[in-house]
Amino acid sequence: MERLDKILAHLNYGSRKEVKEYIRKGYFMVNGETIYDDDHKINPLEDEITFDGEKVEYTEKVYFMLNKPEDVVSATWDPRYKTVVDILSDYAKQKIFPVGRLDIDTTGLLIMTNDGKLAHKLLSPKYHVWKTYEARFTGDFKSEYVKKFEEGITIDDGYTCLPAKVELIQKDLALVSIHEGKYHQVKRMFEALDMKVVQLKRVSFGPLTLDSNLSLGEYRALTEEEIKLLKE
Ligand code: URA
Repeated sequence: MERLDKILAHLNYGSRKEVKEYIRKGYFMVNGETIYDDDHKINPLEDEITFDGEKVEYTEKVYFMLNKPEDVVSATWDPRYKTVVDILSDYAKQKIFPVGRLDIDTTGLLIMTNDGKLAHKLLSPKYHVWKTYEARFTGDFKSEYVKKFEEGITIDDGYTCLPAKVELIQKDLALVSIHEGKYHQVKRMFEALDMKVVQLKRVSFGPLTLDSNLSLGEYRALTEEEIKLLKE
């Protein structure tokens, strides 16, 4: 339950002071009853508020970090597979969706929110958000490949990827950072160099790093600090 004046100010119906004034003058109704009390508490997800007869649309913005497991699709609905939205079904009412996509067999950090504006920004090619993946692969990683990643690898459809970074951690495990999001991009970059990704895990997205306390399929709300970092 939250104070009506706080919610309305948050929704830009005016400053806290202006909103209090509107409430006292009887502009707002909650579930069909005029409310004159600015400290009246409501449940924004359940109660219906009107301002001067017009419905007030209220959706609290929510932000989560999910450690996506395999066999789950990054979509809001799928005819065959479980989706990442099904994992956060407690928040279905808030209409959350994934920020971008990970392949069905890719695991790791996926941001889930209902903040369309932020999602759009994070996915826009204009902002070049860096994403880092741990890629386990088969094939020979030659030392000259580091430079190839830096120069931009040309993948199967002839597209030359933007400069990327790669670091070999083990003989068959690399850390790859890209700042675009073409379909199956990391897998196709490796294929272009005659290697095959057999396991892919996203470990960071922009300023956020996958929380090591989250097991596959677990999620947590982003902290205020993390939300602030993303918005920057
Ligand atoms: N690159 C891929 O190939 N797959 C993903 O899921 C993400 C990046």
